[in-house]
Amino acid sequence: MPTVASPDYEQSVTATGNFLERNPLAKYLWQYKHYYLVSLIATLIAAVISLLVTTYLVERAISYISEGRSISALGQLASLVIVAGLIQSVFGWSGRWFGSTASREIEYYLRADLTKHFLNLDQSFFLKTRTGDLMSRAMNDLQAIRDMIGPIASAMGRLIIVLIVGFLVLLTMNVRLAFFSLAYLPLIGLVIAFFEVRVEHRFNAVQEQLSILTDAAQESMSGVRAVKAYAREESEISAFASQNEEMRKRAMSLAAYQAALWPVFVVLGMGTTLIALFFGTPAVINGELTSAQLVRFILVLGIISWDLMMIGWVISIMQLGLVANKRITELFRQPPSIENGDTSLENHNPTGNIKFRDVSVVFDEAVVLDKINLEIPLGQTVAIAGKTGSGKTTLVNLLPRMTDVTGGVVEIDGIDVRKYKLNVLREMIGFVPQEAYLFSDSLINNLEYGQSDPTPENISTALNVSRLSKDLEQLDNKLETLIGERGASLSGGQKQRAALARTVLKNAPILVLDDSLSHVDTNTEEEILAELKTYMNGRTTLLIAHRTSTLRTADVIVMLRNGTIVELGPHNELVKANGPYAQLYKEQLAVEALGVDLDQLKLDTTIDGSETR
Ligand SMILES: Nc1ncnc2c1ncn2[C@@H]1O[C@H](COP(=O)(O)OP(=O)(O)O)[C@@H](O)[C@H]1O
Ligand SMILES: [Mg+2]
Repeated sequence: MPTVASPDYEQSVTATGNFLERNPLAKYLWQYKHYYLVSLIATLIAAVISLLVTTYLVERAISYISEGRSISALGQLASLVIVAGLIQSVFGWSGRWFGSTASREIEYYLRADLTKHFLNLDQSFFLKTRTGDLMSRAMNDLQAIRDMIGPIASAMGRLIIVLIVGFLVLLTMNVRLAFFSLAYLPLIGLVIAFFEVRVEHRFNAVQEQLSILTDAAQESMSGVRAVKAYAREESEISAFASQNEEMRKRAMSLAAYQAALWPVFVVLGMGTTLIALFFGTPAVINGELTSAQLVRFILVLGIISWDLMMIGWVISIMQLGLVANKRITELFRQPPSIENGDTSLENHNPTGNIKFRDVSVVFDEAVVLDKINLEIPLGQTVAIAGKTGSGKTTLVNLLPRMTDVTGGVVEIDGIDVRKYKLNVLREMIGFVPQEAYLFSDSLINNLEYGQSDPTPENISTALNVSRLSKDLEQLDNKLETLIGERGASLSGGQKQRAALARTVLKNAPILVLDDSLSHVDTNTEEEILAELKTYMNGRTTLLIAHRTSTLRTADVIVMLRNGTIVELGPHNELVKANGPYAQLYKEQLAVEALGVDLDQLKLDTTIDGSETR
């Protein structure tokens, strides 16, 4: 099994080195040049044997008949034909084997490199690019590249040698006849090109429709709840049916040409024989050529025209492969916009002092954060409140560098976060995102994600803080229960608590909760906050929340509005100040007084497991 290579595309040693680094495919082709050389040589030997030896032996066998040689002499010749055929097959097979092996290994490396590259790109790239698009590139484009660098390399070499050697053989047999037959060969090229262009055109049309069809199917299936809720099944079905009908039409049109291709090959092949017979028979009658030689002539011409017919196939695969390679190379050149810090600070012992100094973030000319100044001393808990879109998530994303500042500095322990190595920085921060993501795996593996062997005490702390311990009783296999797409479905609240447990287990000095308890019911949330109180002791915590019951537990509350801090202080002070926070607090008290649980108003807070994915 080959090991995963680690290309570094920034490296530039020499001009060629630079070219190879910037073109992953070229780099690997160069690395596998020996395979291709062997493949080419073997293929050429096979071609030369078939042109020079096999056809010659057949010619001899036929002349034996007219010379009235014995059956045993003929038998000897026949066994030679078989031996030549075997040798030719072995070389032909080796040629293909070396080509395919190299192409499959290169495909393996490219796929490994591409996946690695994807994972090094940051969020903003994935926001801009459709996942389906990336997957199809990783699959289809790599396959097209493999097809191009596999059998095609040897097919190209073979074609050239067959044309040259084959024509030389014909020339040595009869010059006039060789030139007459040669005149017929371009016709083959034209006819094949005619069909190839049409087949390719229709093939692309089918691919295009297939992608539309897949999108349509995927959309209506992943949106099946909406489809059913609005009783749109009929219209979805008929919309799909019309796309499906278009697919049928295009596929039929392709099939018609594809089906015609083989008969065309056969007719063109027969044409070759006819030409040879038409010009060859008079030559045999004149005594310029023996009938045995005519047979060999026909065989050699057959080999040439057969290889010529493969040209169209070779060209279309080359085209697909080159386009695919262009796209893949583009992806490889997509740089991660978050650059790794240069100071290693490997042995930095983080404490968790956080400072935002004049921090601004501008996305596409929209000011999302405007000159934020905020200092969070070690061990403090800061709660952030504000309407949707006020910039809360963006603010906390700056810490693990999911986003970078466009102005100002974010410091941890007095050091600009951009100076840390990313892995060192992210190791310091336990981040519970707004949307909990769980993998299709056992619950315990989801909790341990990224951790090496947490202790049983740590696991029990994590289960306790997140209050998952009581949910475990309902799960058949406890911690080993499979969750996610292929397992048990958890409610929105359970997912959020699993994500919290994962972060608690990480045991980092800085804790960030981005509205991570929004789907948890109020009672459980209060229990969690009580448990967190102990856990957060000694840790610096940023807590984004909407409920004042949560916000008030923090040392300081920050009110954000349109990317600026409009109010800052502890709960009691802010209530007295009678500003935006006091307003929010009063509203929530009023709602509670009415006896309505705020969460009951939200559809997505059920704990019964109906809210799944
Ligand atoms: N990657 C991004 N590209 C462009 N705009 C963004 C991006 N992330 C967030 N925004 C915008 O920034 C604003 C603040 O978003 P966010 O920080 O998520 O707010 P909150 O978490 O308070 O709801 C919103 O207007 C949002 O559309
Ligand atoms: Mg947010």
